[in-house]
Amino acid sequence: MTLTVLGIESSCDDTAAAVVRLDDAAGRDDGGAAPRILSSVVAGQETLHAAFGGVVPEIAARAHAERLDLAVEQALAEARVGLGDLDAIAVTAGPGLIGGVMAGVMLAKGISAGTGLPLVGVNHLAGHALTPRLTDGIGFPYLMLLVSGGHCQFLRVEGPEDFTRLGGTIDDAPGEAFDKVAKLLGLPQPGGPAVEAEAAAGDPRAIPLPRPLLDRPGCDMSFSGLKTAVLRARDEAVARDGGLRAGVRADICAGFQAAVAEVLAEKTRRALATSPVPVLAVAGGVAANRTIRAALEAVADSAGVRFLAPPLALCTDNAAMIAWAGIERFRLGHRDGMELSARPRWPLDGRAAPMLGAGKRGAKA
Ligand code: KG4
Ligand code: ZN
Repeated sequence: MTLTVLGIESSCDDTAAAVVRLDDAAGRDDGGAAPRILSSVVAGQETLHAAFGGVVPEIAARAHAERLDLAVEQALAEARVGLGDLDAIAVTAGPGLIGGVMAGVMLAKGISAGTGLPLVGVNHLAGHALTPRLTDGIGFPYLMLLVSGGHCQFLRVEGPEDFTRLGGTIDDAPGEAFDKVAKLLGLPQPGGPAVEAEAAAGDPRAIPLPRPLLDRPGCDMSFSGLKTAVLRARDEAVARDGGLRAGVRADICAGFQAAVAEVLAEKTRRALATSPVPVLAVAGGVAANRTIRAALEAVADSAGVRFLAPPLALCTDNAAMIAWAGIERFRLGHRDGMELSARPRWPLDGRAAPMLGAGKRGAKA
């Protein structure tokens, strides 16, 4: 049996729709699935939020409501399929900024009511966490490190609906810290690529910065103190030199990046040690950082574990991952009805204590 699923994503600041097809789903085992992304449309909202220094939930929700149907039309057209060719509609039902999630869920319900197609609500984090199965067809279990502007957690993935949270940030997400550091140093947004470029000319040892929570056991992380340490280093340099010299700025960026890389690497080493798996996968915009990626790869190497980073377009927010997670749930027999509700919080691991306050992109559970 072939499954063709439309995915809809609107939980943050990307309006996205995609069509993913899984051929002969019934005959394949987990490791051999061969899904194809027939289309993946992502319309970002950077320009709408740029002046505010962060995502404004009301603006995001309105933009999603205006653009979602166009994104869906475009995704269907690019995939060369009509609504009649679909087997189901998968939609992000949380966690995320509630206005945006509601816009997506309402559209999905509308299409479902109009066509009779089954509806599958998807957890946004499950979309990220299951992406390595879409891109590389890997089997369970594996360790997923999600690192972006809104997410930061280690998940042991044992099935399409079976996630164990091994740890995560207790305050900022690392991408958020990169963005704030860029702001403190007068660099453009998004901060990650700007700080990485600046760090290339700096000495990571010139300005000592803390490695938060490394002295404590476990896999939880903290990045907000690091940001405060950067602020202090900047102010000291300005007081000493009468301004922020380019060389000092590069040193601060290099030092900050090295601290984030070291914390992520050490916590990953611990996660692999406490919960051995054959594959370490990463997702999220921060996984684009070469220093961080190299540090994680080295940890995987020394643990004898395969390192896997999906292509960047599938690491960051997109709807192909939602369509795929929808296919995974659909194959388990999961169906939602008109009672499907949008959830601002939706922890993947119901057994773990809820994490509050993680990220400028809204609470991510
Ligand atoms: O996954 P993403 O596109 O969106 C969500 O947060 O959901 O991640 C964006 C984040 C931003 O905070 C950005 O500064 C960070 O990823 N980022 C990077 C790099 N490229 C993007 N951080 C560090 N180094 C990079 N090269
Ligand atoms: Zn995301």
